[in-house]
Amino acid sequence: MDYKNLLTNTEAGIRTITISRPEKLNALNRETLSEINQAVTSALANSQVYGLIITGAGEKAFVAGADISEFSNYAAQQGKELAKEGHANVFDLIANSPKPIIAAINGFALGGGLELALACHIRYASENAKLGLPEVSLGLIPGYGGTQRLPQLVGKGKAFEIILSANMVDSKESQNIGLVNKVVPLSDLLAECKTLLHTIISRSPNAISAAITAINAAIDPQKDGFETEIEQFSKCFGHADFKEGVTAFLEKRKANFR
Ligand code: COA
Repeated sequence: MDYKNLLTNTEAGIRTITISRPEKLNALNRETLSEINQAVTSALANSQVYGLIITGAGEKAFVAGADISEFSNYAAQQGKELAKEGHANVFDLIANSPKPIIAAINGFALGGGLELALACHIRYASENAKLGLPEVSLGLIPGYGGTQRLPQLVGKGKAFEIILSANMVDSKESQNIGLVNKVVPLSDLLAECKTLLHTIISRSPNAISAAITAINAAIDPQKDGFETEIEQFSKCFGHADFKEGVTAFLEKRKANFR
């Protein structure tokens, strides 16, 4: 499918979704958010896609935030709808994806852009990346999950510092505080993400999905994480992947889950 603001490419089971509005530093307008919803939904439904990478077009920005020009005259109710729709259609969709999703942060990841990266399961960044939640400088707070997912990742103290100051964090510091998993030269970013994702998708897809569900439950106040783990663990025993994984181990060969 063709999108106006996205490029998609599938190679060896990995679908790369590139947000492409470079003239606006890939800012997320409504149309782009709707296209991300379609692109992720379609990748999740495609049995030939095993994992996803989300990145930004160009060498300057991953995503420089929600498109400020679109909500400049919003009132409270419109703001509420914007955030609710975004959570359901994009950010929670990504966070709860049963297929692994890596954010390849290739430059500015600000506001909704950092929130997009925070919703992904794993974040790799290029050396030139700058991350931040500048909303308080606009008279707003993060509205796409930033106030919740950032403290879960870096702790409450650092989250306060980042959100209240609106200062950007460079790639090195982002790695030091656990905001990104790894920092690599920009030219290696996609290749490094693909290498990791290839390893992940060579494991049991059923177990990967169960692990995502269990880890997400650890930070969901409505779920009992330990109960979720027990439930997901036990379900794995009834799946063909368990048979294949154990048989392969006993036969001293590599498991083939596909
Ligand atoms: N929404 C809408 N447009 C945006 C945008 C956003 N979040 N971020 C960047 N743009 C647009 C700029 O308006 C500019 O468009 P123009 O050429 O039509 O004027 C274009 O992208 C390039 O940005 P510019 O500001 O000229 O680049 P820069 O290198 O001087 O600065 C940033 C880069 C990222 C520091 C700066 O663009 C910025 O602060 N953006 C907003 C970040 C933000 O507050 N995000 C949170 C939103 S809730």
